[in-house]
Amino acid sequence: MADRATPPQQSVQVSESERFMKLKDAFISKYGLPPAFYARAPGRVNLIGEHIDYCGYAVLPMALEQDILAAVTPTQTKIIQLANTNPVYLDFNVHINKIHIDTAKPLWQYYFLCGFKGIQVELAEICAKCEHYIGTEGGGMDQSISFLAEKGTAKLIEFNPLRATKVKLPSGAVFVIANSCKEMNKAATAHFNTRVMECRLAAKILAKAKGLEWQKLLKLGDLHTELGVSLETMLSTVEQMLHPEPYSREEVCQRLGISQGELFSSILSQNTHNVTSFKLYQRAKHVYSEAGRVLQFKKVCDETPANALQLLGELMNQSHVSCRDMYECSCPELDQLVDICMQSGAVGSRLTGAGWGGCTVSMVPTDKLDSFLAKVQEVYYKADAQRAAMQTQSLFATQPGGGAAVYHEA
Ligand code: GLA
Repeated sequence: MADRATPPQQSVQVSESERFMKLKDAFISKYGLPPAFYARAPGRVNLIGEHIDYCGYAVLPMALEQDILAAVTPTQTKIIQLANTNPVYLDFNVHINKIHIDTAKPLWQYYFLCGFKGIQVELAEICAKCEHYIGTEGGGMDQSISFLAEKGTAKLIEFNPLRATKVKLPSGAVFVIANSCKEMNKAATAHFNTRVMECRLAAKILAKAKGLEWQKLLKLGDLHTELGVSLETMLSTVEQMLHPEPYSREEVCQRLGISQGELFSSILSQNTHNVTSFKLYQRAKHVYSEAGRVLQFKKVCDETPANALQLLGELMNQSHVSCRDMYECSCPELDQLVDICMQSGAVGSRLTGAGWGGCTVSMVPTDKLDSFLAKVQEVYYKADAQRAAMQTQSLFATQPGGGAAVYHEA
């Protein structure tokens, strides 16, 4: 059930870990003193439930063993000094009263500064809010699994209030992450927020058509709660009340009875003011069907029928198709990689996270793992020089890892 939302304090024998030692040495050579403590946050992979957290629906991610490690020491000055062991990311110093986050140009240090700017409320929920300072209106999956993860299990994450429930993944398969090597910076482009706004507009238009108080309603999930019906009924409501042709700005305003000025000032985010057409039918269909797939995925994990792996694989494949065709958050590289993963022995494969680039997650029977990795390497990575150069960090199997923690040297 609901778990802690603050990182545990652990002690670590730094001299016994090569990774901690390297970080400590780099810290000392840069700042002339040892770190006071270390903090770790794991990576995450969403197994199922894409683009529905910000609509109010549960998602099903797990934390990875792979992580980010930071070494920290408080200082007497009001200057935040940031450095990265990856030389691509340059050192950065800023006075705490002069923090400026340029959302048009998201630099690595801004992610730290967003955290600093927002650190007054509870961590998991506040971290989701922190991300909004970078300009994307994400839902909170990443931050929640980072804090609430437990080694060995995925979690069903429900929102409002935030809750995490263990989901034990069936034995006999492993999850493999594969980076498409296509980058999509969701803070620098309007792709992500356009989808958030399309969901918001669909929720408002449906709410108004149903005679509800639509002004305050922001999420498709809240509309569902208000109506108190099943997800299947929500899907047929979308089919009956929305049309598949894109909605123009004029039509949206007319359906809501508002001016374009009001649309900009009280509904759309800043970086979506230029968007002129909205695919409300397709986006809402994705959200309600994907929310149902998350619940089915959990049910299969809980009940573990004999064909559990096949059922989970099918749900993952359906999720990818819906992301690709209805939500349009895939890209040719991700689609190609998913096909290759399926041909290489996966029982299910899908884009994971925001999409338009980034990674896929595939469920692979344990006894096929080696041949799967070899085939994907051959067909996707070795075929392209840039991908081949990134191959070692781009394709790996992972088990559910533990959550974020703060470490003190023993
Ligand atoms: C990004 C966001 C998450 C979630 C996913 C899509 O990772 O940060 O909150 O919306 O996209 O499922």
